[in-house]
Amino acid sequence: MCGIVGYVGARPVLSILLDGLKKLEYRGYDSAGIVVLGRDLSLFKKQGKISLLESQISHSQVDGHAGIGHTRWATHGVPNDINAHPHLDCTGKLAVVHNGIIENYMELKTALIQKGHVFKSDTDTEVIPHLIEEELLNKDDLLKAVLGSISLLRGSFALAIIHKDFPEKIVCARRESPLVLGIGNGENFLASDIPALLPYTKKIIVLDNDEVALIEKTTVSIFDVQGKRIHRSPQTVDWDARMIEKGGFEHFMLKEIHEQPNVIKDTMEGHLDLAYNKVLLPEGPEDSLLQHLEAIYITACGTAYHAGLYGKYLIEALTGVPTEVEIGSEFRYRERMFKDKSLGIVISQSGETADTLAAMRRMKAEGIPVFAITNVASSSVARESDWVFHTKAGPEVAVASTKAYTAQLLSLALFALRLKGAREGSEDLRAKALVQELQRLPILAETTFNLEGKIQAYANRLRYLTDYFMLGRGLDYVTAMEGALKLKEISYVHCEAYPAGELKHGPLALITSGKQVCLLATQRQLLPKIHSNLKEVKARGAEVLILRFSDSEEMEADETFILPATSDYLSPLLAIIPLQLFAYYMAKEKGCDIDQPRNLAKSVTVE
Ligand code: F6R
Repeated sequence: MCGIVGYVGARPVLSILLDGLKKLEYRGYDSAGIVVLGRDLSLFKKQGKISLLESQISHSQVDGHAGIGHTRWATHGVPNDINAHPHLDCTGKLAVVHNGIIENYMELKTALIQKGHVFKSDTDTEVIPHLIEEELLNKDDLLKAVLGSISLLRGSFALAIIHKDFPEKIVCARRESPLVLGIGNGENFLASDIPALLPYTKKIIVLDNDEVALIEKTTVSIFDVQGKRIHRSPQTVDWDARMIEKGGFEHFMLKEIHEQPNVIKDTMEGHLDLAYNKVLLPEGPEDSLLQHLEAIYITACGTAYHAGLYGKYLIEALTGVPTEVEIGSEFRYRERMFKDKSLGIVISQSGETADTLAAMRRMKAEGIPVFAITNVASSSVARESDWVFHTKAGPEVAVASTKAYTAQLLSLALFALRLKGAREGSEDLRAKALVQELQRLPILAETTFNLEGKIQAYANRLRYLTDYFMLGRGLDYVTAMEGALKLKEISYVHCEAYPAGELKHGPLALITSGKQVCLLATQRQLLPKIHSNLKEVKARGAEVLILRFSDSEEMEADETFILPATSDYLSPLLAIIPLQLFAYYMAKEKGCDIDQPRNLAKSVTVE
């Protein structure tokens, strides 16, 4: 959740750290801090956004060749200047930044206080500098002191540590929270996530669980928890710095919504065999496994879970293989049985979501092989799965996921077609038509943006909105759920997504005169049913927006958004775009912080 950066080298440290923190602000934005190691430690901490820290620092002259920084998403202790990281030991010589949760911090803190240590903050993190301080009483080596300290920690951490007596060195460590090292020329970096490194280097080393690294100007050395040296060569990432700029858009979210036609094209590239109308998925499970599957278990969180629901509907419709989808935090703990011949599918943009990772590890422990769909090639999900499909969404910076979602939907459509091909051959007409239609998707997605002006006007008309309903059947219900999540998380408008057939079983009680309802109507076979739902809500005075394909019959609504016609099966890839835009423009009308909505962080690496 929090973001960490570190730098050792000859460039101006403060500006490199500030720049890195800004690139990681999506990971947490309630407070931030930086410490630079020169002749002394220069410490700056500030509650609020990084821009406030930046103005606090702007007049400071700080020299140094190493430093670490942190952007916080509070877990223990309210967001304020004192609880902001870095945290120091009693001597004031040692500074630590931390992402994660130390589960046994209370017992460690009590023991440290008994030994005379003085704590200033309410954080769990602050035990770490004091523990290292204790270790340094018996060891004269920072690396060894860190190794000794982390063996006492329970929970999750990504740590970066500097000490005045060990100049031009950063020690960092990782357990369950991501940490990436950036390899430069005469300079080296560390960060929680790749975007912070992209302006400086594309050469990275991903630190694994229970590894510690010593970062100096010209060397990066990695060790296991016993202090044994590990040799690992850097890998080169295929993202570039331009991908993390706003590119003329007012917000990252709007830019990322607009990137979707290209994301669909890039994710699909090389996977359609048009000569034989089939899908190629060499990165996925082989025929022998797919042919005998009796069950598929999908797990994910949030938006990625909605993509999983799409996967279930499509896989079952096309192949009949029973498919369950379960939210990561439920899957990991629920008592249950699994079928023998099964496959797990794990979906995660970041590849680091704690509950998704835990659910995936449970699958593996149950003997279920795992196919991962992720946007980050170096992520834990990618590394721990049996097969991995990389969505080509590029870095997603806005906290609310948009382009990664469509890439996940597309990946699942490809998987469902590949599964069908493996089980039934490639002669099925429905599958062939879908492969053909997939090709047209980028252009159809582009056409959807013709609605943007209309959507903006609709949001303006509803600018005092507090409650909204999104209703749909079949795949439209999946889109309604994702659309409702977008509206809630960035505009703070309360929104209920419901399967339209459930209205009479309860929620209809809420539909009264003037209530705003969006009725999704892209599932052609279900249109007569949707007509009845329209009548039901209109009869109770609701104002209705209809979302339908251009080739379907007109419906009597207060507003209609018309999508370019495509297959019912692919509708979620198009229908979500107007709902994302609606959430965006509604949030704008309400003056919300669109890219960094309250209480949220992009990568949820704690439980
Ligand atoms: C919502 C959103 C979240 C994420 C969820 C899972 O817009 O972004 O619901 O989808 O936290 O994240 P990943 O996909 O990184 O595992």
